[in-house]
Amino acid sequence: MSESAAKSTSSLLAWYEAMGVDEAIGEEPVDRFAQSAAPPASQGTPRDSAKGAPDTAAGAAPKGALNVPPKASRKARRPAPAPEDVAPPVLEGIETLAELEKAVAAFEGCPLKRTAKNTCLRAGARRPRMLIGEAPGRDEDLQGKPFVGRAGKLLDKMLAAIGLDETSVYITNTIYWRPPGNRTPTPQEIGSCAPFLARQIELLRPEVIVLLGGAAAKSMLETTEGIMRLRGKWKLYHAKERDIPTLATLHPAYLLRSPEAKRYAWRDLLMLKERLGELEKD
Ligand code: URA
Repeated sequence: MSESAAKSTSSLLAWYEAMGVDEAIGEEPVDRFAQSAAPPASQGTPRDSAKGAPDTAAGAAPKGALNVPPKASRKARRPAPAPEDVAPPVLEGIETLAELEKAVAAFEGCPLKRTAKNTCLRAGARRPRMLIGEAPGRDEDLQGKPFVGRAGKLLDKMLAAIGLDETSVYITNTIYWRPPGNRTPTPQEIGSCAPFLARQIELLRPEVIVLLGGAAAKSMLETTEGIMRLRGKWKLYHAKERDIPTLATLHPAYLLRSPEAKRYAWRDLLMLKERLGELEKD
């Protein structure tokens, strides 16, 4: 590679990094120029493409294109099923969290699943105190479990400050697959996973729900208000059979970036502690 090509490649990589691209999703490089020169691939159904139907550039690339092994190409270039092709999850017969976990694993209606490494459904214990975060990040994606990275470590400390730990709370997210570059999930992505979250709430019957951050708070409380307005107030989440007291607070990832906001989170934690104390007395 010439010196100027090396320089422009490294400045391109630096730019990607600044934009939040911190890993390559495919296992092998994909030659997009060769792909666009190839004749259009036949669409096929999502089921066909999952079987590796010849609808990818690996099958159709002209001579001289990069040779991408079928395994990598299948994952990186499986076409997104159109929303109308994806059946909404049928969750009525699901009576346990283990069954729900299987249903999430089989679900193809959230496009993020195709770029994520693992599904991250839940952490903690089957206890009636539920914490709902936003979306798995890089560490969660690698380990297949919510809140195991830096934000998770801070969450552990926050819980410990009011006498809670992983054995006393149930932790999940609004979605179960990492958005590339840790971007905020879209309302559509959150909506595609919402039936699973609703079913978890029905199965768990939490006494309280804590919403970590704006994305979880806005979607669960069905509002466009910002987290600074939503936090620190008990509200009701309308579950199928009853209303559940719900408290929004600041996301630990935000607190890592803005430690001066920890005082608000601390107030919210004290509200939670007080409420849990009252519930124990009842
Ligand atoms: N942030 C979240 O909202 N959820 C996680 O699981 C990790 C980080």
